[in-house]
Amino acid sequence: MSAETDFIWWKHGVLCEIWPRSYYDSNGDGSGDIQGIIQKLDYLAELGIDGIWLGPVNKSPMVDSGYDVADYRSIDPLYGTMADFEQLLAEAHKRNIHIIMDMVVNHTSDQHAWFKESRLSRDNPKRDWYIWHDRKRGRPPSNWKAAMGGGVWQWDNATKQYYLHSFFKEQPDLNWRNPAVRQEIYATMRFWLDKGVDGFRCDVLNYFLKDDQLRDNPTSLSAGIFNGFQKHLYSRSQPGMEEILRQMRAVLDGYKDRMMVGEVFVAQDGPAMAAAFMGDGDLCHLSFEFSLLFTKWDAARFKEMINGWFAVLSAKGWPCNVLSNHDQPRAVTRWAAGADTQKRAKVMAALLLTLRGTPFLYYGEEIGMPDSPIKRGDVMDTVGKMYWPIVKGRDAERSPMQWNAGPQAGFSSVKPWLPLNADYSEINVAAQEKDPLSVLNFYRRLIALRREKPALQRGGYEQVPSDKNILAYRRTYHNEEILVILNFAGERKVQAIDSSKRWKVLLGTQRSSESAIDKDGLAVYPYEALILEEDK
Ligand code: GLC
Repeated sequence: MSAETDFIWWKHGVLCEIWPRSYYDSNGDGSGDIQGIIQKLDYLAELGIDGIWLGPVNKSPMVDSGYDVADYRSIDPLYGTMADFEQLLAEAHKRNIHIIMDMVVNHTSDQHAWFKESRLSRDNPKRDWYIWHDRKRGRPPSNWKAAMGGGVWQWDNATKQYYLHSFFKEQPDLNWRNPAVRQEIYATMRFWLDKGVDGFRCDVLNYFLKDDQLRDNPTSLSAGIFNGFQKHLYSRSQPGMEEILRQMRAVLDGYKDRMMVGEVFVAQDGPAMAAAFMGDGDLCHLSFEFSLLFTKWDAARFKEMINGWFAVLSAKGWPCNVLSNHDQPRAVTRWAAGADTQKRAKVMAALLLTLRGTPFLYYGEEIGMPDSPIKRGDVMDTVGKMYWPIVKGRDAERSPMQWNAGPQAGFSSVKPWLPLNADYSEINVAAQEKDPLSVLNFYRRLIALRREKPALQRGGYEQVPSDKNILAYRRTYHNEEILVILNFAGERKVQAIDSSKRWKVLLGTQRSSESAIDKDGLAVYPYEALILEEDK
């Protein structure tokens, strides 16, 4: 099969995470909505993306911004109706854009009908859909810490038992050891697949199974505050997950071309676990691995992290790469706040779009949009409300998309649900469309190049020796060879290149296709991103 005919959208394409509340407000209530996304599909098609990961849109009391679902088969009125969602699917598909939904099934909202029933009595038929336990010697059944702080056990006075919540107490964990729960979730997957949804981003997959003997986690100071200073040996990532993943995969395999990408949130277990969730390409199609996202701005560290990630993948495992998402400060804020922001943003873009594996952009990344600093009075994320000022929450990276320099950045006709970034008059889509050297136009060219060059989409990856400030690698496919050179430093550096070959510039931040390449050692400009091809 030729590279052109076996294009698999989730493997060879480019995906983009959209935070629905912040993309575009079509009805003037200050919040983004599904109709708003429909209106921006042409923009996304022009950017060149193949799929959207849509943040959670199911009915939710929004204690965790939609990651607390009250009804899996509904659309929250904040975002629109089921008809709007079906229209989004149809309009996206017309433009060859796939839609994957967030599937948040480690836990439900405490407002979900199942939990309301479950907590009614100890013998309720839904009791065993959640994880209930008695007191153990007057104390909670285990010492496990929740991801949002405090313990995982919440006392329920009505039935005098604790229920388990890995996140907020309003997010009780489902009991994945109960076959009835599994069947219901698989039926829900089919409900959306039947509508034409192309796949799922599965929230915190590695939290589904907990130790059934409820053994205590060991204390570990090095695990840090976000892990509650304990190693989550028993409260997460337990054996048995493979069976669940196989069952989920079987549901997807009943349809054509559908996929799932797992969020395997394993700060402490490293990339090996993310790789294990893909099996030999027969479990999750992709799984997120966050070590790149947590790396410092340092070419040598990136080399290590990339090698570490690629080394643990099985023969059929496929990497997926992400630099920003809705849970962490944006990449430009982490790596490029202050000086040289746009230059560094282009280095990141070139990295993400030329690395082996499926790239996931985060909305606004393509214009180098930074976090929008948040004040106490504007906080929406419960994490920020609870832990301000030590932890300010995740609102800063969820701010409204900056469409133009007009009122409300062209996002809405009224004051948006979160404050706009003060710099939107400079950093916005309309301004960057007009500027051939903008970050946006660089992303567009990179995505187009990736589509054109099989070596970038699916080729092999090999690091090339370089200065410690440079990350250089070859991507090869059959007789196509591409060399990527990324200078992380604000100074000129020298990169040796194979002088037995002739090279031409495919794309670069500081050179054009006419630039000659000096074979005896290339003087790389500060923050230069350069993509060369062997000229045959
Ligand atoms: C995931 C989501 C995060 C959410 C948590 C609980 O990590 O990305 O936003 O708070 O799961 O559902």
